[in-house]
Amino acid sequence: MGKHIIPHNYQVTKRDRIESNNHNSFLLWFTGLSGSGKSTIANLVEKELFKKGISTYTLDGDNIRKGINNDLTFSPEDRTENIRRIAEVSNLMIDAGLVVLAAFVSPYKKDRENIRTIVKDVNFVEVFINTSVEECERRDVKGLYKKARAGEIKNMTGISAPYEAPENPDIEIHTETETIEDSVKKIVEYITPKLSRQ
Ligand code: ADX
Repeated sequence: MGKHIIPHNYQVTKRDRIESNNHNSFLLWFTGLSGSGKSTIANLVEKELFKKGISTYTLDGDNIRKGINNDLTFSPEDRTENIRRIAEVSNLMIDAGLVVLAAFVSPYKKDRENIRTIVKDVNFVEVFINTSVEECERRDVKGLYKKARAGEIKNMTGISAPYEAPENPDIEIHTETETIEDSVKKIVEYITPKLSRQ
């Protein structure tokens, strides 16, 4: 199908947008169990960046699954497709000059590697929100773990579906022992040099 598609080269380029914004664009990807704190931390990091005048946008599993990905389930195949689409959307947003924050369980290592390929290694920062399943289940902010234990939700990550933890994330956050302020500071400090135009 692709052989009859000829890309058009537009004259406002990524470089132009980066120069106009005065910062680089890249993807900050948050992975971790449901209830681990991904969205909470991503939100606070985005607020910090926004205060510094950085152009940002956040993509979040719970929101995206209500819209563009509302045709997808939590089967392994659909999760792979969920992550692939978000990686492609993130890639467009990187091209548009934004710092993209994405908070998705993204439990499979191969899917996260695929994001790295789609957006290119240099544009990918993997943040592992490392909260134990016991703690996520204790918090159970959305009541999903209770439902999973009762058999009302199938394929629940950490209960009846796997979570393949990153072995070598760029940033690892332990929400059970670090304060949220320290976690946000650690992430902002890590990405600050990446924001400078090259
Ligand atoms: S992913 O695995 O495909 O990356 P995604 O981040 O989009 O998942 O969606 C996860 C969110 O959907 C969770 O935060 C939770 O609120 C909700 N959810 C509903 N069912 C499940 C399930 N079976 N496993 C994990 N999360 C679920």
